Amino acid sequence: MEIVVITGASAGLGTEFLDGIMNETPLPDEIWLIARREERLQQLAAKYPEMTFRCLPFDLQKPESYDEYGHLLAENSATVRLLINNAGYGKLGEFHGSHVGEQAGMVDLNCRALTAMTALTLPYMTRGSAVLNVCSIAAFAPTPRMTVYCSTKAYVYSFSKSLRRELRSQGINVLAVCPGPMSTEFLDVADIVGRSKTFQTLPYCNPKKVARGALKRVYRRGIYTPHPFYKLYRVLGKLLPHALVMYMSKT
Ligand SMILES: NC(=O)c1ccc[n+]([C@@H]2O[C@H](COP(=O)([O-])OP(=O)(O)OC[C@H]3O[C@@H](n4cnc5c(N)ncnc54)[C@H](OP(=O)(O)O)[C@@H]3O)[C@@H](O)[C@H]2O)c1
Repeated sequence: MEIVVITGASAGLGTEFLDGIMNETPLPDEIWLIARREERLQQLAAKYPEMTFRCLPFDLQKPESYDEYGHLLAENSATVRLLINNAGYGKLGEFHGSHVGEQAGMVDLNCRALTAMTALTLPYMTRGSAVLNVCSIAAFAPTPRMTVYCSTKAYVYSFSKSLRRELRSQGINVLAVCPGPMSTEFLDVADIVGRSKTFQTLPYCNPKKVARGALKRVYRRGIYTPHPFYKLYRVLGKLLPHALVMYMSKT
């Protein structure tokens, strides 16, 4: 049985990944959808009656979710064709004086959960499988007022590149997709709306295009940065001193 697993499937980019997969051939035998809001997952699954879904209402900030996921993989002796580590959130604001749980929770979800999901899934992958990690342009340079978020995405970037090299001989690809801002619930969760001139002026990425573009490249490429503006930012992040990049990209 070949499966695709999507975390953060209940909203935003996650729903676009699902839509993209349902428009590709060959379809997997099952799709496992992971997020906390189960009713959203059920509604999404109902849109595609031709597919077999498992709606898994896991809170990936809780380690017991990984145990349950590990058991499910073992019980089903599944082959995972594609793991999409998409669940994540950010927070805008000064680190000093911020909410400890929110800041540490970002590390738990964006880094720890992504790492655990990947480690648990790899034994069920074969030649031709892939891991798609949703990263961000925030990985390219430190971003004050999004200090923890950009640090978590720098982890995702580095983790993805290094793991890709490790898995090359096994024929398993790892892609990190690095979008710029997208109009999803992310902006509300991060408390960005109306609080950042930079976010008001930056070009926005279309989540559907980001998902389709990433799925097109997931079995062969290592990094995908969707928009020409952000491709340039990625290059500048490599060439210029980070003090200057931070000045230009201040939120
Ligand atoms: N939107 C942007 O501007 C932007 C830019 C660059 C990168 N990204 C990245 O893109 C990815 C998707 O974000 P999005 O824009 O689609 O945001 P979104 O609409 O807020 O979606 C986030 C998803 O993560 C899930 N999630 C949140 N906390 C969770 C938890 N504890 N356990 C399990 N699932 C959880 C949410 O579902 P539940 O609430 O139902 O759990 C939701 O499905 C994230 O990794 C984000 O960092 C976003």
